[in-house]
Amino acid sequence: MIDEATKQRILDAAKIEEVVGDFVTLRRRGVNLIGLCPFHNEKTPSFTVSPSKNICKCFGCGKGGTPVNFIMQHEHLSYPDALRYLAKKYNIEIVEKELTAEEMQARTKRESMMALNEFAGRYFVDQLWRTEEGQSVGLAYFRERGFSDAILQKFQLGYSQNQYHAFSDEAIKSGFSATVLSDVGLATRSDRGGMVDRFRGRVMFPVHSLSGRIVAFGGRVLVQTEKSAKYVNSPESEIYHKSNELYGIYFAKESMVQNDAVYLVEGYTDVLSMHEAGIQNVVASSGTSLTQGQIRMIHRFTSNITVLYDGDAAGIKASIRGIDLLLEEGMNVKVVLLPDGDDPDSFAKKHNANELIEYIKEHQVDFIQFKSGLLLEDAGNDPIKKSQLINDIVQSIAVIPDAITRSLYIQECAIRFSVRESLLGEAVQKLRQQKQVQKPVQEPAPIANATASVIVPIEPEIAQKAGAELPYTYNQEQVIMRYLVNYGKCNLSFYDAESNEHIQIPLATYVDLMLAEDEMPLQFPLHVQLLQEALQVDQTDLRTYFLNHTNLSIQNYVFSLVEDKYEHCRNSKDEDPNKLTSQLSQEMPQVILEFKLRTVKGRLKEVSEAIKQAQVQQDGAQLAQLIQQQVSLVRTQQEIVDNLRESKIQRF
Ligand code: CTP
Ligand code: MN
Repeated sequence: MIDEATKQRILDAAKIEEVVGDFVTLRRRGVNLIGLCPFHNEKTPSFTVSPSKNICKCFGCGKGGTPVNFIMQHEHLSYPDALRYLAKKYNIEIVEKELTAEEMQARTKRESMMALNEFAGRYFVDQLWRTEEGQSVGLAYFRERGFSDAILQKFQLGYSQNQYHAFSDEAIKSGFSATVLSDVGLATRSDRGGMVDRFRGRVMFPVHSLSGRIVAFGGRVLVQTEKSAKYVNSPESEIYHKSNELYGIYFAKESMVQNDAVYLVEGYTDVLSMHEAGIQNVVASSGTSLTQGQIRMIHRFTSNITVLYDGDAAGIKASIRGIDLLLEEGMNVKVVLLPDGDDPDSFAKKHNANELIEYIKEHQVDFIQFKSGLLLEDAGNDPIKKSQLINDIVQSIAVIPDAITRSLYIQECAIRFSVRESLLGEAVQKLRQQKQVQKPVQEPAPIANATASVIVPIEPEIAQKAGAELPYTYNQEQVIMRYLVNYGKCNLSFYDAESNEHIQIPLATYVDLMLAEDEMPLQFPLHVQLLQEALQVDQTDLRTYFLNHTNLSIQNYVFSLVEDKYEHCRNSKDEDPNKLTSQLSQEMPQVILEFKLRTVKGRLKEVSEAIKQAQVQQDGAQLAQLIQQQVSLVRTQQEIVDNLRESKIQRF
């Protein structure tokens, strides 16, 4: 844990031009600096660095942010690790937050467990290469399976002697306690009090965490007999949660980013053989279906996943269920079925890298297509089976967070199954609604995770590109957002005639109250979320809060709100708080009124459309009701216009 004061010192010290300058050659242009974007290929520089705002942004691909964001994205680091990176750059000593005795103990325990695993990793490698038994049994086995020395070394593969406590003895001699040995599960205490090694006479596969530390081992038997399990694995422990690790991820990171894709295979040996064939963006689920934690880990690097299935896998149908989770997390899922009898390991052995890539390219199909094809084959012409199958597909489509992707699948499946598109669409919608109703009851999502709920607010540009229309009030809402992000926690002050007092109220709260008063909520989902979070978070500098948000859409959007063109909305740091309060208290009522006026105009437009329709349909009752609405809206509109005029007169 980095304590708050140190974090602040790091944030203060980090200069965007210096941080970016380590990776990008920058040239001055006006008040800003520009260079070639490090996040996408470009020939003319569109990566802009603003020293005054201490942020950067690519106008080509949209990436950018604060110095910390930049380092997180560029170096693929977590937030705390990005802080550590910057601390190092600026020679700031990190005072890790003082730990309680308990925390300290837990930490030393974890540290020594990690240390033991590192030690064990080296030990098993040593055994493989330097002992008679290791060479003649272990190394011979790996060589026979066609693994090169380079791969053996890269993945730190090793060998455990076929003895009861060879490893424990060595570890204890080197100062590790019997307790740590059993904590990580490398050995257990026998009835007689001695230690018994978990791994004996097996080739060893260390499991590396995302940051490259050994958190567990898998040991494979050399000769499969009925008695012995093919793999023995480290047990769950304080440093190893199987559901949060993925075999190969540490060695796949870079390549996942470069290729913007990842392959998912089943086992250790599949990963190794793919590497051997030159493909590095590959991870293994180790025989189980992926968990949400694992998917999110992958998603930090890419959204595109291709699942490689054995040709003869009876398990395909079972594992298909797990894939819905990938869709739910917004991944694009493709599937490759290998030829009958092959797994990725054997296939990669028989072919060179090019052939492997060629095969994948030719045979990868979109998951929804794959699944429907598979089920359709099953259902044949049986109408009941067919309707079950359609329901099944609807389930998969319903979990996809992106509305456009969903609708494309609906179109396609409608054609495939010859059902009406609207029917499929309704079924998907219904399922989604059910899910939404269920969700909050199970787990009220913390605000930081609000993005994980089914509706993911997206940036306006993306919404528009996808053909969605922005709400009628979009521009007025955006003005409100600009104030909110820059001054959300600043106080406004109003004179209350009734109590004869001045009331102080934070800007965010004021906005919320004023909109609720007339039941005129914000329309654009991203704006709704910004307001909600602004109300809930306990931070005075909302701008920094949003620019460091875990949701990239929010980061990007807020970024665009604080760009140069809106120079009148400066950060409040160097402004006189009293002056600011009085200025904001004058401006805000007007901003809110403009929004309300627009809202009413929008509603009036809708009503006149409806009136036209009702006239065509000669629906008298409906018409009467609509006209009443129209009258009342016109009245509201007039009130707002009057108020607006008044507030403008007051200002000048
Ligand atoms: N696995 C396991 N325990 C087992 C069997 C399998 O933990 N008893 C996990 C391992 O992570 C293994 C993966 O499931 O890598 C896939 O199993 P399998 O295909 O049987 O193993 P491979 O690694 O492919 O081994 P090999 O190529 O030697 O058959
Ligand atoms: Mn296998």
